[in-house]
Amino acid sequence: MRSITLHKGNVYSGYLILVNRQHGLKQTQAHHSPALVPSLANYDTILLERRVAASLTQLLKKVESRGRIIPVSGYRSKAEQEKLYQDSLIENGRSFTEQYVAYPGCSEHQTGLAIDLGENLDEIDFIRPSFPYTGIFAHFRELAADYGFIERYSHGKEQITGISHEPWHFRYVGYPHARIMQHHRFCLEEYIQYLSDFSENGQQYIFKDKGKNYEVYYVRAMEETTVIEIPDECLYQISGNNVDGFIVTIWSNPL
Ligand code: DAL
Ligand code: ZN
Repeated sequence: MRSITLHKGNVYSGYLILVNRQHGLKQTQAHHSPALVPSLANYDTILLERRVAASLTQLLKKVESRGRIIPVSGYRSKAEQEKLYQDSLIENGRSFTEQYVAYPGCSEHQTGLAIDLGENLDEIDFIRPSFPYTGIFAHFRELAADYGFIERYSHGKEQITGISHEPWHFRYVGYPHARIMQHHRFCLEEYIQYLSDFSENGQQYIFKDKGKNYEVYYVRAMEETTVIEIPDECLYQISGNNVDGFIVTIWSNPL
C-alpha cells in the first residue's frame, strides 16, 4: 500500500471540484491559478487548464469539427467574472443575470475546467452562444463523456444547479466520471452527494466500461491532514470536492 498525505487545502482543487453559489472558490484558489494554455490552436486568448485543453482538442478532432465548433469563453479571472456580472446586470437585468451568469467567486470559469462552445456563426452571443442538439453538435455530445466532458447545466436540473439550462457550457470532470454521471443522468451536485455514500473501508462504487473496472469512493477530510491508502501498482487519481473531502478513483484490472 502507498500512503498519500493530503492537506486541508487540497479539498479545494482537482478535476471534481463542485463550484456553485453555495461552494465558491476559496481565497487560496484565487491566488493560485491553474496551469493555463490556449483552449485550442489559434485561440490564444481563450484559456483552459492544460489537460482540459488537450481533451477538448482531441474531441473536436474526433468529431471532425474543422472550425464549425469554436471556443467562446474559457478561463475567467474573478475580476473578469465580476465585470461580466455587473455589465449583464445593466444590460440584461437581474433575473437574466442570475440565471445565466454565476455570481463572482462562484463560477466554474474561474477554475479553467469549463468552456463555453458555440456554433461558428457571424454573430456569437457571448453569454448564450448557440450550441444545438443536432448534427455535429449532437455528435460532439455523444462523445463528450469519453473525453471527460459533461453538459453542466442540463434541462430539468435548474433547481439543483441554480443555473438555467445552458446547452453551450461544458465542464471537464475527467474520465470515467463523465461517463458515470451520464449513466445516472446526474448533475455534478447530485454526483458529489451520491459518492459520499461510498467509502474507503465500506462499499466502493464500481463502474465497468469498455472492459475496465473503476473503483470510486469518498474520504472525508480530517482537521489538518488526511491519509489515504492506495494499493500498489494501480493507477489512481485523487480530487478534492470543494466541499468537505476527497474523491478517490482507482483504475483496477477486471477480475
Ligand atoms: N454561465 C455560467 C453559469 C458562469 O457564468 O459560470
Ligand atoms: Zn459557461
